[in-house]
Amino acid sequence: MDRTHRLLHSFAALADLGQELSEARDFGEVARASLYIVLGTLAIRRGALGIRDPETQRLRYVAARGVQLPLPDEELDATTYDALVATASAGLWLSPSTLPPVRAALHGNFELLMPLVVRRELIGLLLVGEKATEEPISQDDREIIAAMARHVAVGIHNHHLMAEVQERASENRRLYDDLRALYHDTVRAFAVAIDCKDAYTRGHSERVGYYSAAVARALGLDEDEIEGIRVAGYLHDIGKLIVDREVMNSKLRFSACDVPELRQHTIAGYEILARIKHPYADLPLLARYHHERLDGSGYPEGLRQDEIPLGAKIIALADAFDAMTTTRPYRPQLPFDEVIGELVRGMGTQFDPAVVCAFARVLLREAEQSSAERRPLFGLLDPNYVRLERNLPRIEELLARAERTLAAAG
Ligand SMILES: [Fe+2]
Repeated sequence: MDRTHRLLHSFAALADLGQELSEARDFGEVARASLYIVLGTLAIRRGALGIRDPETQRLRYVAARGVQLPLPDEELDATTYDALVATASAGLWLSPSTLPPVRAALHGNFELLMPLVVRRELIGLLLVGEKATEEPISQDDREIIAAMARHVAVGIHNHHLMAEVQERASENRRLYDDLRALYHDTVRAFAVAIDCKDAYTRGHSERVGYYSAAVARALGLDEDEIEGIRVAGYLHDIGKLIVDREVMNSKLRFSACDVPELRQHTIAGYEILARIKHPYADLPLLARYHHERLDGSGYPEGLRQDEIPLGAKIIALADAFDAMTTTRPYRPQLPFDEVIGELVRGMGTQFDPAVVCAFARVLLREAEQSSAERRPLFGLLDPNYVRLERNLPRIEELLARAERTLAAAG
């Protein structure tokens, strides 16, 4: 291979190395290959490649040929740094008359020191020994080495940038996860605060959040939508925080529908949530519409059918289910048969059949589990409801009714 062909071949190999350096491969391996290509091109016997650590300002030799590693690390002071950057394009002869700015040059008895520089930033050093032919390194050789060194420098620089980007991305991911956890903890704390205000609904918001998320999952919504609906479940009654405690806990209270002041909690909830920037855009609307009914008899706006957001329909069902399965001031908790009966009766008027169907599937899946740990939803209910051998046929019936209603609606 003549010199020109060897050069072209080596530059092509370097171009490939540049790409590999940018990827997250074994960096030491790629540094070694870079050094060997540069040395091989001009049949140079010995050499070493050092990389500067920007944090410590130390230069560490990561690859060498014809010299024993480890070569000592270099401490780069400002004067040495500037001197090296200034000689980047020409290299520095290490003749006895030149004072070598780096210690390894003394140890290794090299002839040429080529700083690797990108945009006036020192990336590393290439130390070059004698040629195998024992001819002196010519000016031409020096220019070739300088060109290749620039190529290697850009490759290493890109590798550093990629590593930094990845580091920042994982740091951002960690921060995002922390924020998300904080957000959810805060929302749950709010749920507890909302329920504390109403003496009859302890734990209600958390359960509604749980049921709602389970239904959203059964409906095949994506993870973000499920989380949004879970949070909306936690916060759906946040408007109750501004309803008079006397009204809320009155012994005369029958249900929210009977007390105009209680009805205000939907709009109040919307107004509270609309002022906050949430990761889930329709949260305020879900609080506003969680008492709407398919037949238009709900509040605050009497919306019908598809005018009601899906999330609000899910929360409406979860809310009603929790109300029926817990003791309220106006009535005790209902037996399981009656709960199922109410869901069947309300289908198409109060509840969306698709939502009832999804809920029935959640109940059925749990009822079919043999161990209590695999029935998290039933775990939230009063033990009276967990007589599964009795309840299973009722749940199957609910699912069949919901499926028939859905099929009839086309
Ligand atoms: Fe409510």
